[in-house]
Amino acid sequence: MSIKPINLLATSKTKIKGCIKVPGDKSISHRAIIISSIADGRTKIKGYLNSTDINATINACRAIGANIEENKDTLIIDGNNLERTEGDNVELNFGNSGTSMRLMMGILSAQKFSSVLIGDDSLNQRPMNRVSKPLLRMNADIKTSDGAPPVIIDPTSSIKCVDHKVDIASAQIKSSIMLAGLYGNNSFNIKTPKSRDHTEIMLSEFGCNISINSDSIKMKPGNLRTPSIIEVPGDISSAAFFIVGSIISKNSQIKIENVGLNPSRIGLIEVLKMMGANIQISNVKKVNGEITGTIYTESSTLNGIKIPKELIASSIDELPLIVLAASQANGKTSIRNAKELRVKESDRISSMIKMMSDFKISTDEFSDGMNIYGGTINGAKVNSYGDHRIAMTALMASLVSDGDILVEDCKNIDTSFPTFIDIANNIGMDIKKND
Ligand code: S3P
Repeated sequence: MSIKPINLLATSKTKIKGCIKVPGDKSISHRAIIISSIADGRTKIKGYLNSTDINATINACRAIGANIEENKDTLIIDGNNLERTEGDNVELNFGNSGTSMRLMMGILSAQKFSSVLIGDDSLNQRPMNRVSKPLLRMNADIKTSDGAPPVIIDPTSSIKCVDHKVDIASAQIKSSIMLAGLYGNNSFNIKTPKSRDHTEIMLSEFGCNISINSDSIKMKPGNLRTPSIIEVPGDISSAAFFIVGSIISKNSQIKIENVGLNPSRIGLIEVLKMMGANIQISNVKKVNGEITGTIYTESSTLNGIKIPKELIASSIDELPLIVLAASQANGKTSIRNAKELRVKESDRISSMIKMMSDFKISTDEFSDGMNIYGGTINGAKVNSYGDHRIAMTALMASLVSDGDILVEDCKNIDTSFPTFIDIANNIGMDIKKND
């Protein structure tokens, strides 16, 4: 039986106003759950993201023997202290979650049972050999299907720690190596371009011997001691929808409290400021090694810019929103050096080019990015291409469009931001199901 896709209609609105909180950071939630599951002792994870992507990680961590219980917005996890779990073969379905599959490939490589890793149509097309290749160098017994899922992992006699040079700025690749390395014996280095560093921070919180330099990570395996409580800040990638929505629409003001402000994640804020946006940050503090704070934004006049190459990795998941902001800026905005967008939940360059064309906004497409020319967004029917961030970006366009926006295939919003519609409607938007 096929599942009927959910279509959402966003009525053209002109402003958003209010003080909001967004759900827990997805990247940090994955790491908190995985690392608690292999640590010694009981960890309480407060404010974790309750979404389908995170459920995929919880499910896989239960398969390696972690005991995970849910109590309101807190997860209680009893870890297995890096035990190499024995058991029957398992098939694990990771749904839409690339982070769950790639990070768990590192952990599953060290277990004493075999596993077959599959996903939904989108995940089954995404590259997994970028992770299996370094894991093979660590003596993992791992096979992909022409580089993609299903991924088949069989037990290995031992995981070996070797030095790595990773050429792609990918947190998922380096994280998978670090997590597998915990099951080895000796110190090793990973030379890698900068990407989000939540795994490094979380491992340090659990007492791991890890040092981070500008272009490399050095770590020494050893048992992980729980800090007992992990507090997950709000997700900057979810806050991003309302940051951009308030900046591009007239008479808007939004305050978002307790948002993660890790420097490897705030490229969007830096880009928007360069374009002329009014953004203020306050209440900055550090919780479990992660910087958090309050973000205040308001309607702003934006000018097109050339996005600096150095800000691509730290704004990678927000680039669809930068395209939307650019459509409301004066002149041309150029995004290059972003070919990683081609292998996200959808080919986000192609998805955004098609969406902008449906909105009657001019663009130029490149293999590694696009130019966007500021203009007026026409009300239109657009497709999410099964991609949560594309769906939510399209819905935010209703704040500046000259007609309503119908977005087809929006079920995937539940992968990262199940409360998106409620929050959006509470601050002045009008989004409803359209069957
Ligand atoms: C993530 C890393 C990024 C990002 C993804 C989440 C993570 O992917 O796009 O949404 O939590 O590690 P890459 O590591 O492939 O760049």
